[in-house]
Amino acid sequence: MFLQAIPLGGGGFVGSNLAYHLSDTGDYSVRVVDVHDDKLRLKMANNPIDFVDLDIRSDRDALDDLVRQADVVVNLAAHVHPSAFLIRPLEVVETNLFASLETVASCIRNRKFLLHFSTSEVYGKTGGSEEPFREDETDCILGPIGNHRWIYSCAKQMLDRIIHAHGLAGELDYAIVRPFNFVGPLMDGLVPRWTREDNPRVLANFMSALIYDRPLELVNGGRSRRCFTFIDDGVDALELIIRNRDRVNRQIFNIGNPGNETTIADLARLMVRLYRAHCDPKASGEIRTVSGDSFYGPGYEDCDRRLPDISKIQGLGWAPRHDLEETFRRCVIYFHRNRAHLESMLKDATSPSRALPPSGDSDERTMRPTAASGRHGSPNS
Ligand code: NAD
Ligand code: UGA
Repeated sequence: MFLQAIPLGGGGFVGSNLAYHLSDTGDYSVRVVDVHDDKLRLKMANNPIDFVDLDIRSDRDALDDLVRQADVVVNLAAHVHPSAFLIRPLEVVETNLFASLETVASCIRNRKFLLHFSTSEVYGKTGGSEEPFREDETDCILGPIGNHRWIYSCAKQMLDRIIHAHGLAGELDYAIVRPFNFVGPLMDGLVPRWTREDNPRVLANFMSALIYDRPLELVNGGRSRRCFTFIDDGVDALELIIRNRDRVNRQIFNIGNPGNETTIADLARLMVRLYRAHCDPKASGEIRTVSGDSFYGPGYEDCDRRLPDISKIQGLGWAPRHDLEETFRRCVIYFHRNRAHLESMLKDATSPSRALPPSGDSDERTMRPTAASGRHGSPNS
Protein backbone atom coordinates (compact mmCIF):
# COMPACT_ATOMS: atom_id res chain seq x y z
CA MET A 1 0.00 0.00 0.00
CA PHE A 2 1.31 3.46 -0.87
CA LEU A 3 -1.17 6.26 -0.54
CA GLN A 4 -1.08 9.99 -0.96
CA ALA A 5 -2.71 11.58 2.08
CA ILE A 6 -3.46 15.28 2.18
CA PRO A 7 -4.16 16.70 5.62
CA LEU A 8 -5.94 20.06 5.12
CA GLY A 9 -5.07 22.11 8.20
CA GLY A 10 -2.25 19.62 8.68
CA GLY A 11 0.15 22.24 9.94
CA GLY A 12 -1.59 22.36 13.31
CA PHE A 13 -1.29 20.22 16.42
CA VAL A 14 -3.14 17.06 15.35
CA GLY A 15 -2.26 17.40 11.67
CA SER A 16 1.49 17.74 12.14
CA ASN A 17 1.61 14.80 14.56
CA LEU A 18 -0.42 12.77 12.06
CA ALA A 19 1.76 13.87 9.14
CA TYR A 20 4.96 12.80 10.93
CA HIS A 21 3.42 9.49 11.88
CA LEU A 22 2.06 8.65 8.42
CA SER A 23 5.30 9.71 6.79
CA ASP A 24 7.40 7.66 9.23
CA THR A 25 5.49 4.47 8.36
CA GLY A 26 6.83 4.71 4.81
CA ASP A 27 3.40 3.77 3.48
CA TYR A 28 2.19 7.28 2.70
CA SER A 29 3.32 10.28 0.79
CA VAL A 30 2.04 13.22 2.81
CA ARG A 31 1.15 16.59 1.36
CA VAL A 32 0.14 19.02 4.07
CA VAL A 33 -2.06 22.00 3.19
CA ASP A 34 -2.09 24.89 5.65
CA VAL A 35 -1.21 28.53 6.06
CA HIS A 36 1.50 27.66 8.64
CA ASP A 37 4.35 25.19 8.31
CA ASP A 38 6.42 25.94 11.40
CA LYS A 39 5.48 22.70 13.15
CA LEU A 40 6.51 20.75 10.08
CA ARG A 41 10.00 22.23 9.97
CA LEU A 42 11.07 20.95 13.36
CA LYS A 43 11.88 17.35 12.74
CA MET A 44 13.19 15.24 9.93
CA ALA A 45 10.55 12.68 9.13
CA ASN A 46 11.87 9.50 7.53
CA ASN A 47 10.22 10.64 4.35
CA PRO A 48 9.84 14.22 3.22
CA ILE A 49 6.56 15.96 3.93
CA ASP A 50 5.33 18.12 1.13
CA PHE A 51 3.84 21.47 2.18
CA VAL A 52 1.36 23.52 0.20
CA ASP A 53 0.76 27.05 1.46
CA LEU A 54 -2.95 27.49 0.80
CA ASP A 55 -5.83 29.13 2.62
CA ILE A 56 -8.62 26.68 1.80
CA ARG A 57 -11.10 29.57 1.68
CA SER A 58 -9.24 31.35 -1.06
CA ASP A 59 -8.70 29.12 -4.10
CA ARG A 60 -11.24 26.40 -4.95
CA ASP A 61 -9.39 25.31 -8.09
CA ALA A 62 -6.14 24.77 -6.22
CA LEU A 63 -8.00 22.80 -3.57
CA ASP A 64 -9.71 20.71 -6.21
CA ASP A 65 -6.36 19.94 -7.90
CA LEU A 66 -4.94 18.74 -4.61
CA VAL A 67 -7.94 16.56 -3.85
CA ARG A 68 -7.81 15.03 -7.34
CA GLN A 69 -4.23 13.88 -6.75
CA ALA A 70 -4.90 12.41 -3.30
CA ASP A 71 -6.02 8.96 -2.16
CA VAL A 72 -7.15 10.13 1.26
CA VAL A 73 -8.29 13.64 2.17
CA VAL A 74 -8.08 14.55 5.86
CA ASN A 75 -10.06 17.64 6.84
CA LEU A 76 -8.61 19.25 9.96
CA ALA A 77 -8.71 22.93 8.99
CA ALA A 78 -10.62 24.81 11.66
CA HIS A 79 -10.60 27.48 14.34
CA VAL A 80 -10.38 25.45 17.52
CA HIS A 81 -9.79 27.69 20.54
CA PRO A 82 -12.87 28.36 22.68
CA SER A 83 -11.72 31.98 22.97
CA ALA A 84 -12.12 32.30 19.18
CA PHE A 85 -15.69 31.02 19.37
CA LEU A 86 -16.61 34.10 21.40
CA ILE A 87 -14.34 36.69 19.81
CA ARG A 88 -14.58 35.67 16.11
CA PRO A 89 -17.74 33.55 15.75
CA LEU A 90 -18.21 34.33 12.05
CA GLU A 91 -14.67 33.26 11.20
CA VAL A 92 -15.35 30.01 13.00
CA VAL A 93 -18.36 29.32 10.80
CA GLU A 94 -16.58 30.47 7.66
CA THR A 95 -13.75 27.96 8.02
CA ASN A 96 -15.29 25.17 10.06
CA LEU A 97 -18.49 24.97 8.00
CA PHE A 98 -18.49 26.92 4.73
CA ALA A 99 -14.87 26.28 3.62
CA SER A 100 -15.17 22.67 4.72
CA LEU A 101 -18.27 22.30 2.54
CA GLU A 102 -16.00 23.00 -0.44
CA THR A 103 -13.72 20.20 0.70
CA VAL A 104 -16.69 17.84 0.93
CA ALA A 105 -17.89 18.87 -2.54
CA SER A 106 -14.43 18.31 -3.98
CA CYS A 107 -14.23 14.82 -2.45
CA ILE A 108 -17.61 14.01 -4.01
CA ARG A 109 -16.56 15.35 -7.43
CA ASN A 110 -13.28 13.47 -7.38
CA ARG A 111 -14.63 10.38 -5.60
CA LYS A 112 -12.05 10.55 -2.79
CA PHE A 113 -12.25 9.12 0.72
CA LEU A 114 -12.69 11.86 3.33
CA LEU A 115 -11.48 11.51 6.92
CA HIS A 116 -13.31 14.40 8.54
CA PHE A 117 -12.55 15.89 11.96
CA SER A 118 -15.65 16.50 14.00
CA THR A 119 -15.28 17.02 17.75
CA SER A 120 -16.40 15.70 21.12
CA GLU A 121 -17.90 19.15 21.48
CA VAL A 122 -20.81 18.32 19.13
CA TYR A 123 -22.42 16.44 22.02
CA GLY A 124 -22.58 19.71 23.94
CA LYS A 125 -23.82 19.48 27.51
CA THR A 126 -24.83 16.29 29.33
CA GLY A 127 -28.23 17.61 30.48
CA GLY A 128 -27.54 15.75 33.74
CA SER A 129 -27.05 12.33 32.13
CA GLU A 130 -24.20 10.19 33.46
CA GLU A 131 -24.18 8.09 30.28
CA PRO A 132 -21.10 8.18 28.06
CA PHE A 133 -21.47 9.86 24.67
CA ARG A 134 -22.33 7.32 21.95
CA GLU A 135 -21.76 8.23 18.32
CA ASP A 136 -25.09 6.99 16.98
CA GLU A 137 -27.41 7.48 19.95
CA THR A 138 -26.55 10.46 22.12
CA ASP A 139 -28.46 13.73 21.75
CA CYS A 140 -26.55 16.93 21.02
CA ILE A 141 -27.53 19.52 23.67
CA LEU A 142 -26.40 23.08 23.06
CA GLY A 143 -27.11 26.38 24.82
CA PRO A 144 -28.91 29.46 23.48
CA ILE A 145 -27.91 31.25 20.27
CA GLY A 146 -26.50 34.25 22.15
CA ASN A 147 -23.94 32.05 23.88
CA HIS A 148 -21.38 31.87 21.11
CA ARG A 149 -19.49 29.11 22.87
CA TRP A 150 -21.74 26.77 20.90
CA ILE A 151 -21.11 28.13 17.41
CA TYR A 152 -18.13 25.78 16.95
CA SER A 153 -20.13 22.77 18.06
CA CYS A 154 -23.08 23.79 15.91
CA ALA A 155 -20.93 24.33 12.77
CA LYS A 156 -19.21 20.98 13.25
CA GLN A 157 -22.52 19.25 13.89
CA MET A 158 -24.05 20.72 10.73
CA LEU A 159 -21.14 19.43 8.69
CA ASP A 160 -21.46 15.96 10.25
CA ARG A 161 -25.12 15.92 9.22
CA ILE A 162 -24.34 17.06 5.66
CA ILE A 163 -21.56 14.48 5.25
CA HIS A 164 -23.90 11.80 6.58
CA ALA A 165 -26.59 12.81 4.09
CA HIS A 166 -24.12 12.64 1.18
CA GLY A 167 -23.15 9.16 2.36
CA LEU A 168 -26.80 8.09 2.45
CA ALA A 169 -27.16 9.36 -1.10
CA GLY A 170 -24.25 7.10 -2.07
CA GLU A 171 -22.13 10.06 -3.16
CA LEU A 172 -19.37 10.13 -0.56
CA ASP A 173 -17.09 7.64 1.17
CA TYR A 174 -15.99 8.98 4.53
CA ALA A 175 -15.25 8.43 8.20
CA ILE A 176 -15.97 11.08 10.82
CA VAL A 177 -13.80 11.20 13.94
CA ARG A 178 -14.62 12.93 17.21
CA PRO A 179 -11.44 13.50 19.22
CA PHE A 180 -11.85 13.96 22.98
CA ASN A 181 -9.29 16.53 24.18
CA PHE A 182 -6.09 15.30 22.56
CA VAL A 183 -3.03 16.79 24.28
CA GLY A 184 0.70 16.51 23.69
CA PRO A 185 3.71 17.95 21.90
CA LEU A 186 3.03 20.51 19.18
CA MET A 187 -0.19 21.68 20.85
CA ASP A 188 -0.81 25.44 20.73
CA GLY A 189 2.14 27.38 22.19
CA LEU A 190 3.51 29.34 25.13
CA VAL A 191 1.78 32.57 26.11
CA PRO A 192 4.29 34.86 27.89
CA ARG A 193 1.64 37.58 28.27
CA TRP A 194 -1.90 36.26 28.39
CA THR A 195 -4.70 38.25 26.81
CA ARG A 196 -8.25 37.21 25.99
CA GLU A 197 -7.31 37.27 22.29
CA ASP A 198 -4.15 35.23 22.84
CA ASN A 199 -5.81 32.49 24.84
CA PRO A 200 -5.00 28.89 23.92
CA ARG A 201 -6.44 25.64 25.26
CA VAL A 202 -5.99 24.50 28.83
CA LEU A 203 -2.67 22.63 28.44
CA ALA A 204 -0.84 25.64 26.99
CA ASN A 205 -2.49 28.01 29.47
CA PHE A 206 -1.46 25.93 32.49
CA MET A 207 2.06 25.35 31.11
CA SER A 208 2.49 29.08 30.45
CA ALA A 209 1.31 29.84 33.99
CA LEU A 210 3.85 27.39 35.45
CA ILE A 211 6.74 28.55 33.27
CA TYR A 212 6.09 32.30 33.71
CA ASP A 213 5.14 31.98 37.36
CA ARG A 214 1.54 33.15 37.08
CA PRO A 215 -1.41 31.59 38.86
CA LEU A 216 -3.11 28.73 37.04
CA GLU A 217 -6.64 30.01 36.40
CA LEU A 218 -9.61 27.73 36.91
CA VAL A 219 -12.58 28.87 34.89
CA ASN A 220 -15.69 28.86 37.09
CA GLY A 221 -13.89 26.80 39.72
CA GLY A 222 -12.60 24.11 37.34
CA ARG A 223 -15.54 21.79 37.99
CA SER A 224 -15.93 20.69 34.37
CA ARG A 225 -14.64 17.26 33.47
CA ARG A 226 -12.65 16.14 30.44
CA CYS A 227 -11.07 12.88 29.29
CA PHE A 228 -7.61 13.86 28.04
CA THR A 229 -6.10 11.67 25.34
CA PHE A 230 -2.37 11.55 24.58
CA ILE A 231 -1.74 12.55 20.98
CA ASP A 232 0.25 9.39 20.13
CA ASP A 233 -2.78 7.27 21.08
CA GLY A 234 -4.99 9.52 18.99
CA VAL A 235 -2.71 9.31 15.97
CA ASP A 236 -2.61 5.50 16.22
CA ALA A 237 -6.42 5.47 16.06
CA LEU A 238 -6.45 7.81 13.07
CA GLU A 239 -4.03 5.68 11.11
CA LEU A 240 -6.06 2.57 11.95
CA ILE A 241 -9.12 4.25 10.48
CA ILE A 242 -7.25 5.22 7.31
CA ARG A 243 -5.94 1.66 6.91
CA ASN A 244 -9.43 0.22 7.43
CA ARG A 245 -11.27 2.80 5.36
CA ASP A 246 -13.35 0.22 3.50
CA ARG A 247 -14.49 -1.33 6.79
CA VAL A 248 -15.22 1.99 8.50
CA ASN A 249 -16.87 3.64 5.54
CA ARG A 250 -19.70 6.05 6.44
CA GLN A 251 -19.26 5.68 10.18
CA ILE A 252 -18.58 8.06 13.07
CA PHE A 253 -15.94 7.23 15.72
CA ASN A 254 -15.25 8.71 19.13
CA ILE A 255 -11.51 8.73 19.88
CA GLY A 256 -10.82 9.31 23.54
CA ASN A 257 -9.58 7.89 26.79
CA PRO A 258 -12.46 7.42 29.27
CA GLY A 259 -9.97 6.21 31.89
CA ASN A 260 -8.36 9.66 31.92
CA GLU A 261 -11.34 11.59 33.20
CA THR A 262 -10.51 14.49 35.51
CA THR A 263 -11.94 17.77 36.67
CA ILE A 264 -9.94 20.78 35.50
CA ALA A 265 -9.24 21.64 39.16
CA ASP A 266 -7.66 18.21 39.68
CA LEU A 267 -5.74 18.62 36.42
CA ALA A 268 -4.26 21.89 37.70
CA ARG A 269 -3.13 20.18 40.91
CA LEU A 270 -1.65 17.27 38.91
CA MET A 271 0.29 19.61 36.63
CA VAL A 272 1.66 21.60 39.57
CA ARG A 273 2.82 18.35 41.22
CA LEU A 274 4.43 17.08 38.00
CA TYR A 275 6.09 20.43 37.32
CA ARG A 276 7.58 20.53 40.82
CA ALA A 277 8.74 16.90 40.56
CA HIS A 278 10.32 17.10 37.11
CA CYS A 279 11.06 20.76 36.38
CA ASP A 280 11.23 23.18 39.30
CA PRO A 281 10.78 22.05 42.91
CA LYS A 282 10.32 25.68 43.99
CA ALA A 283 7.53 26.54 41.56
CA SER A 284 4.82 28.45 43.41
CA GLY A 285 2.00 26.59 41.65
CA GLU A 286 -0.62 29.09 42.76
CA ILE A 287 -4.12 28.23 41.58
CA ARG A 288 -7.01 30.68 41.52
CA THR A 289 -10.57 30.82 40.21
CA VAL A 290 -11.82 33.22 37.53
CA SER A 291 -15.26 33.64 35.98
CA GLY A 292 -15.95 32.36 32.47
CA ASP A 293 -17.13 35.82 31.44
CA SER A 294 -13.88 37.49 32.50
CA PHE A 295 -11.68 34.74 31.01
CA TYR A 296 -13.45 34.26 27.67
CA GLY A 297 -15.97 37.10 27.47
CA PRO A 298 -19.75 37.20 27.74
CA GLY A 299 -21.40 34.17 26.16
CA TYR A 300 -19.10 31.54 27.61
CA GLU A 301 -20.80 28.39 28.69
CA ASP A 302 -19.03 25.10 29.26
CA CYS A 303 -19.46 21.45 28.37
CA ASP A 304 -19.87 20.06 31.89
CA ARG A 305 -18.56 16.60 31.08
CA ARG A 306 -17.35 14.68 28.02
CA LEU A 307 -17.10 10.96 28.60
CA PRO A 308 -16.67 8.91 25.40
CA ASP A 309 -18.03 5.49 24.67
CA ILE A 310 -15.16 4.02 22.65
CA SER A 311 -16.55 0.58 21.87
CA LYS A 312 -16.76 1.31 18.14
CA ILE A 313 -13.07 2.20 17.74
CA GLN A 314 -12.10 -0.58 20.15
CA GLY A 315 -13.78 -2.94 17.68
CA LEU A 316 -10.99 -2.06 15.24
CA GLY A 317 -8.40 -3.20 17.79
CA TRP A 318 -7.49 0.19 19.29
CA ALA A 319 -7.09 1.07 22.96
CA PRO A 320 -5.42 4.13 24.52
CA ARG A 321 -2.07 3.33 26.18
CA HIS A 322 -1.22 6.49 28.16
CA ASP A 323 -2.87 7.12 31.52
CA LEU A 324 -3.50 10.63 32.85
CA GLU A 325 -0.28 10.88 34.87
CA GLU A 326 1.92 9.66 32.01
CA THR A 327 0.11 11.86 29.49
CA PHE A 328 0.74 15.05 31.47
CA ARG A 329 4.21 13.99 32.65
CA ARG A 330 5.20 13.91 28.99
CA CYS A 331 3.49 17.23 28.26
CA VAL A 332 4.99 19.05 31.26
CA ILE A 333 8.55 17.85 30.59
CA TYR A 334 8.25 18.58 26.94
CA PHE A 335 7.20 22.21 27.39
CA HIS A 336 9.81 22.74 30.10
CA ARG A 337 12.74 21.22 28.18
CA ASN A 338 11.94 23.13 25.04
CA ARG A 339 11.09 26.51 26.52
CA ALA A 340 13.94 28.39 24.81
CA HIS A 341 13.06 27.03 21.44
CA LEU A 342 9.37 27.70 21.93
CA GLU A 343 10.12 31.28 22.89
CA SER A 344 12.30 31.77 19.84
CA MET A 345 9.41 30.59 17.70
CA LEU A 346 7.05 33.02 19.38
CA LYS A 347 8.90 36.03 18.05
CA ASP A 348 7.10 35.93 14.73
CA ALA A 349 3.92 34.40 16.03
CA THR A 350 0.57 36.03 15.46
CA SER A 351 -1.68 33.51 17.21
CA PRO A 352 -1.52 31.11 20.15
CA SER A 353 -1.58 28.17 17.75
CA ARG A 354 2.20 28.26 17.41
CA ALA A 355 4.83 25.63 17.15
CA LEU A 356 5.91 23.27 19.81
CA PRO A 357 8.48 20.57 19.33
CA PRO A 358 7.59 17.27 17.72
CA SER A 359 6.10 14.23 19.36
CA GLY A 360 8.04 11.36 20.84
CA ASP A 361 9.58 10.35 24.13
CA SER A 362 9.15 13.84 25.42
CA ASP A 363 10.81 13.37 28.77
CA GLU A 364 13.95 11.89 27.25
CA ARG A 365 14.57 14.33 24.45
CA THR A 366 15.44 17.92 23.94
CA MET A 367 14.53 19.94 20.94
CA ARG A 368 16.74 19.75 17.89
CA PRO A 369 15.59 22.38 15.44
CA THR A 370 16.48 21.37 11.92
CA ALA A 371 16.42 22.86 8.52
CA ALA A 372 13.15 22.45 6.66
CA SER A 373 12.02 18.87 6.96
CA GLY A 374 9.76 18.91 4.00
CA ARG A 375 9.66 20.05 0.47
CA HIS A 376 7.61 23.14 -0.10
CA GLY A 377 5.75 23.15 -3.30
CA SER A 378 2.72 24.17 -5.22
CA PRO A 379 -0.25 21.79 -5.51
CA ASN A 380 1.09 20.58 -8.82
CA SER A 381 4.76 20.27 -7.95
P1 NAD B 1 -4.90 23.51 15.35
O1 NAD B 1 -5.40 24.89 15.51
O2 NAD B 1 -3.59 23.18 15.94
O3 NAD B 1 -4.88 23.13 13.80
C1 NAD B 1 -5.81 23.63 12.88
C2 NAD B 1 -5.05 24.03 11.64
O4 NAD B 1 -5.97 24.47 10.65
C3 NAD B 1 -4.07 25.20 11.90
O5 NAD B 1 -2.75 24.84 11.56
C4 NAD B 1 -4.59 26.30 11.00
O6 NAD B 1 -3.57 27.11 10.44
C5 NAD B 1 -5.33 25.50 9.93
N1 NAD B 1 -6.31 26.31 9.23
C6 NAD B 1 -7.33 27.05 9.77
N2 NAD B 1 -7.98 27.70 8.81
C7 NAD B 1 -7.38 27.36 7.63
C8 NAD B 1 -7.62 27.73 6.30
N3 NAD B 1 -8.60 28.57 5.97
N4 NAD B 1 -6.82 27.20 5.33
C9 NAD B 1 -5.82 26.36 5.65
N5 NAD B 1 -5.55 25.98 6.92
C10 NAD B 1 -6.33 26.48 7.89
O7 NAD B 1 -6.03 22.51 15.94
P2 NAD B 1 -5.95 20.94 16.21
O8 NAD B 1 -6.07 20.74 17.65
O9 NAD B 1 -4.83 20.36 15.47
O10 NAD B 1 -7.33 20.47 15.57
C11 NAD B 1 -7.37 19.87 14.27
C12 NAD B 1 -8.80 19.43 13.96
O11 NAD B 1 -9.24 18.47 14.91
C13 NAD B 1 -9.82 20.57 14.00
O12 NAD B 1 -10.76 20.38 12.96
C14 NAD B 1 -10.49 20.41 15.34
O13 NAD B 1 -11.79 20.91 15.35
C15 NAD B 1 -10.45 18.90 15.51
N6 NAD B 1 -10.45 18.51 16.92
C16 NAD B 1 -9.30 18.61 17.66
C17 NAD B 1 -9.33 18.22 18.99
C18 NAD B 1 -8.11 18.23 19.86
O14 NAD B 1 -8.16 17.67 20.93
N7 NAD B 1 -7.02 18.83 19.45
C19 NAD B 1 -10.49 17.77 19.56
C20 NAD B 1 -11.64 17.71 18.77
C21 NAD B 1 -11.60 18.07 17.44
C1 UGA C 1 -11.80 22.07 23.16
C2 UGA C 1 -12.07 22.88 21.90
O1 UGA C 1 -13.45 23.08 21.72
C3 UGA C 1 -11.63 22.19 20.68
O2 UGA C 1 -10.25 22.43 20.50
C4 UGA C 1 -11.85 20.69 20.68
O3 UGA C 1 -12.68 20.37 19.58
C5 UGA C 1 -12.52 20.18 21.92
O4 UGA C 1 -11.85 20.69 23.04
C6 UGA C 1 -12.53 18.66 21.94
O5 UGA C 1 -11.65 18.02 22.52
O6 UGA C 1 -13.43 18.09 21.31
P1 UGA C 1 -12.43 22.52 25.66
O7 UGA C 1 -12.28 21.15 26.20
O8 UGA C 1 -13.41 23.37 26.38
O9 UGA C 1 -12.80 22.46 24.11
O10 UGA C 1 -11.02 23.27 25.59
P2 UGA C 1 -9.97 23.84 26.63
O11 UGA C 1 -9.74 25.25 26.25
O12 UGA C 1 -8.79 22.95 26.64
O13 UGA C 1 -10.71 23.85 28.05
C7 UGA C 1 -10.91 22.69 28.81
C8 UGA C 1 -11.52 23.11 30.15
O14 UGA C 1 -10.54 23.82 30.91
C9 UGA C 1 -12.74 24.02 30.06
O15 UGA C 1 -13.61 23.69 31.12
C10 UGA C 1 -12.16 25.41 30.31
O16 UGA C 1 -13.10 26.31 30.86
C11 UGA C 1 -11.07 25.10 31.30
N1 UGA C 1 -9.92 26.03 31.31
C12 UGA C 1 -9.27 26.34 30.16
C13 UGA C 1 -9.47 26.53 32.51
O17 UGA C 1 -10.06 26.27 33.59
N2 UGA C 1 -8.38 27.34 32.53
C14 UGA C 1 -7.70 27.66 31.41
O18 UGA C 1 -6.68 28.38 31.51
C15 UGA C 1 -8.16 27.14 30.18
